Amino acid sequence: MAAEPVNLNEFQELARLALPKMYYDFYAGGAEDEHTLKENVEAFHRITFRSRILVDVSRIDLSTTILDYKISAPIIIAPTALHKLANPEGEVATARAAASCNTIMVLSFTSSSSIEEVAASSNAVRFYQLYNDYTAVEEFGRPLINQSQLCSNFEADANETMDASLSWKDLEWLRSITNLPILIKGILTREDAIKAVEVGVAGIIVSNHGARQLDYSPATISALEEVVHAVKGRVPILMDGGVRRGTDVFKALALGAQAVLIGRPVVYGLAAKGEYGVRRVIEMLKDEFELTMALTGCPSVKHITRKHVRTEQERI
Ligand code: FNR
Repeated sequence: MAAEPVNLNEFQELARLALPKMYYDFYAGGAEDEHTLKENVEAFHRITFRSRILVDVSRIDLSTTILDYKISAPIIIAPTALHKLANPEGEVATARAAASCNTIMVLSFTSSSSIEEVAASSNAVRFYQLYNDYTAVEEFGRPLINQSQLCSNFEADANETMDASLSWKDLEWLRSITNLPILIKGILTREDAIKAVEVGVAGIIVSNHGARQLDYSPATISALEEVVHAVKGRVPILMDGGVRRGTDVFKALALGAQAVLIGRPVVYGLAAKGEYGVRRVIEMLKDEFELTMALTGCPSVKHITRKHVRTEQERI
């Protein structure tokens, strides 16, 4: 394999070689038999293109706007825990890469660099992934230096702070105490999508959290359209899970997402080559996405429509 990776899968292999097995497994693993983990990727493979020819694609515009933030492409960094396991600079390096790619970084509630450090390190647009325990936010906000303690502490801390009684009422409460836009992550059904819109969220992220929780959750790309149809354009819909190619980004947009988020590939880039690696991961996806737009006849993201893809059910 070339030392300079040419696609996201090669970054994964470099990360595997660079990381202690325990850390690599923490990033790469999924729930139980990892059926959904595989499906997140493989469901994309079953969607094909309906390319249009003789469209002027001499200029391609990848940019888009998410909640009034103009970004260079519909590719956002998903919240993932403990970047210091991948690189000593942790989330600070990731945020710098996000800024240089002109995209949004979602900082995890369980980040290993403090919110303040990340904020001071770049002018990247940052969203924050919030659970509901403010004490824990402060605790996790402390820079965690001792990497060997990270994994063992993580599970105990996570269990302490996860509140199994969380309900829609808590979301309503959160909505009532802030004017900040709230996006809800983890929606996979029309029922929950409708409920979320009723509560007043500013956006929905169709996600099975990287297939790390419930095996046999559907692949997110397969769940996307149900949510899109239920929401009827009332709020923007983002999706994540299994996006590894620019073609995947295109397919998600064609099925109704405004943008995708990238989880594991970002930490693989970070583990393999630090800030530069994260930048390369995003740049490679952007290059592939641009090529896909050209070859399907879409000069801008607005030109990408449902008619540009064919799902398995639609095959003759
Ligand atoms: C995650 N994810 C996640 N999500 C979240 O809301 N808060 C978190 O702290 C984490 N932590 C986390 C750690 C690791 C190691 C992984 C791989 C994932 C889920 C993440 O935001 C996203 O939904 C998935 O990673 C998207 O799938 P891909 O791109 O990894 O296939």
